[in-house]
Amino acid sequence: MTTPPLDPGNWEGLRSDLHRLLDRCVDQMRDANDHPWQAPPADLADRYAIGTGGDVVTRVMDQVLPYHGGNTHPKFWGWVQGSGLPSDFVAGIAAVAMNTNGGGRNHGINEMERAVIDWTRRKMGFGDGASGVLVAGTSQATVISLQAARVRACPGVRADGSNVGLTVYAVDGVHNATRKAVELLGLGHDQLRLIEMRNGAMDLQALQQAITADRVQGLTPLAIVGTAGSVDLGGYDDLNGLADLAAAERVWLHVDGAFGAWTRLADNPWHKLTDGIERADSIALDFHKWMYVGYDCGLALIADETAHRAAFAARPAYLKGATEGVAGGDPWFCDYGIDLSRGNRALKVWCALEMFGEEAFATAITRNCTQAAFMADQVQSHGMTLSAPVVSNICVFTAAPDLPADQQSTLNAKIATHLQLHNATVFSTTDVNGITCLRAAITNHRTRDHHIADAIADVAKTAQLLKGSLG
Ligand SMILES: Cc1ncc(COP(=O)(O)O)c(C=O)c1O
Repeated sequence: MTTPPLDPGNWEGLRSDLHRLLDRCVDQMRDANDHPWQAPPADLADRYAIGTGGDVVTRVMDQVLPYHGGNTHPKFWGWVQGSGLPSDFVAGIAAVAMNTNGGGRNHGINEMERAVIDWTRRKMGFGDGASGVLVAGTSQATVISLQAARVRACPGVRADGSNVGLTVYAVDGVHNATRKAVELLGLGHDQLRLIEMRNGAMDLQALQQAITADRVQGLTPLAIVGTAGSVDLGGYDDLNGLADLAAAERVWLHVDGAFGAWTRLADNPWHKLTDGIERADSIALDFHKWMYVGYDCGLALIADETAHRAAFAARPAYLKGATEGVAGGDPWFCDYGIDLSRGNRALKVWCALEMFGEEAFATAITRNCTQAAFMADQVQSHGMTLSAPVVSNICVFTAAPDLPADQQSTLNAKIATHLQLHNATVFSTTDVNGITCLRAAITNHRTRDHHIADAIADVAKTAQLLKGSLG
């Protein structure tokens, strides 16, 4: 019998190579502290050129594993990136053997995805009439959620594509996933009203005025996008206030909870930041950020399954379901989103929750919030200044508040780069009040207080070192 050309001639050889690879990968995750980000070498493109040849497993170990993005390291706090979990090994290996296409049909993935969505909807306080779909991330979940809003408001839009006069409202500083979604849905970002912030949240009075003004113009307010965990500062809109207003105005309330929705699992005072999220029509959130699960995995959660299906369900003849056999099964998740072919995202969330238990996540999320507050203390004790109060897990600060604004910006940006290159420490930057500041978003279950104390001491030292180079 001949071996199919894309299977190995020697399965036992592959098995032992994979054991070798698995050992290396487990070591790399266990010893994450020894594997910070490093700049990819200049010749990496040549090394990766297709057709270079050589033993793939050895090449992956030597030339691929070292050049990761750094977010598995305990001192990685740039942007908003999750740290990855050991349970991802279990899910990843099993997923390869199964090669599941989760778009539909009758197999275990449907029940598993349903279980993950059901757990999440209960944590978010949604009723059992809710539905959801696992997607690449919050960006895609935002498109799905706003499409459900659009079809509810304009039932004919799937046929005629008309969007005339629809407007969307969000706080000034909303993540640009909302802007992209508004563009993709054909509304145009001129129809996204950016409402000013008051006391760190969308100003409800200004929101009401904007909606009223649009109605006077003959426009149709479609949706309010609340933010639970703003990307720059980790701030929260008043979700109950938004829900009251959305109900009074009969507009859809969507919540961008990419990472911040997970304070639902945290202790107070952080838990109550998301009070009111249960009143939203939809939530976009990620497991790959503050649930630490490996990339990628986000969720669009919609309170009303009928509205959700109305926005997406449509099956051509070749995808017709059946009462039994492979074409059986219900639901088919292709009826809830954009993708027909879908990988097995549910398995990694399920493995994470079953391996560690919900309480471990609650503890880690709460600890990240206390760590951001600890970082703020460290910043101030080194004579540096917070750029905004710490609300949840994000700490933003400037290293040399005595300098003019433009020099602070230059210095903070240089410090971020220096620490990335020389101290295995990753802050990113953002602008607050016209100054580029250092920013840490702690969505990292490996971080300990000593990592924070060391990093802030390094920032202070590096500030002194680089000040002279400002000219
Ligand atoms: C508040 C917020 N919304 C949306 C997004 C986009 O999420 P994703 O990268 O999963 O598409 C992010 C990413 O950092 C975010 O922080």
